[in-house]
Amino acid sequence: MAAAVASRLLEERLQRPRLPLGLATGRTMEPVYAALAQQLEQLSGAQQQAICQGWLSFNLDEYVGLVATDTRSFTAFMAARLQRPLGLQPEQVLLPDGLASDPQAEARRYGAALAVAGGVGLQLLGLGLNGHVGFNEPPCGAQAPCRCLTLSAATRTQNAGAFGGDPEAVPAQAITLGLAEILAAERILLVVTGASKAAILKRALQEPPCPEVPASWLQHHPRLEVVADRAALGTF
Ligand code: GLP
Repeated sequence: MAAAVASRLLEERLQRPRLPLGLATGRTMEPVYAALAQQLEQLSGAQQQAICQGWLSFNLDEYVGLVATDTRSFTAFMAARLQRPLGLQPEQVLLPDGLASDPQAEARRYGAALAVAGGVGLQLLGLGLNGHVGFNEPPCGAQAPCRCLTLSAATRTQNAGAFGGDPEAVPAQAITLGLAEILAAERILLVVTGASKAAILKRALQEPPCPEVPASWLQHHPRLEVVADRAALGTF
């Protein structure tokens, strides 16, 4: 499954390089980026060059307060799994600056930079256990813009693994692209794995869209693709 998602991303870069990719972090994406680096090596030199020279991606989110070299930051995650393996420049793999002195202003700058780049072509998304996409915590409307927000206890618990298992050690705030920018992408690819996500995936796709399940707004997108493993599909 990770291989299929990786080849979709590479195909997007080759066939529709006009707009940046929208990328995500999280455990779900680790095998995707590993597969992407492997698949790139199998391509011709000309294709590799086309993909890497033209690469521009905007990640969804970043914690506030972690230095970029902190291995728990999303910036470090992307550098280790995508930027360095593909030989890309840091300015080709963009994330919000979680160390900006004014995170709210940084969120506005990041959202504006994405708009200047033309918005996202293909947006890759994972799914939070509480229905968040990016770090759009519930309740969240479909118009929410890129912003700095306070993370929920549920999300800090979900992500505590990278912080020694201590939810309190997870940064309290993050900068995230909003549902507004996510829904403005030309295409969306939602990737969901594992039985723990089955209940929230079902709610996101089958219940009427509502602020309590931010991912449910994706139902409004005309080009939403969902890639899920058998465990995440649960009782569908
Ligand atoms: C994190 C990230 C999301 C990610 C989601 C799922 O908190 N902010 O972008 O998609 O939660 O993470 P995981 O794949 O580790 O389950």
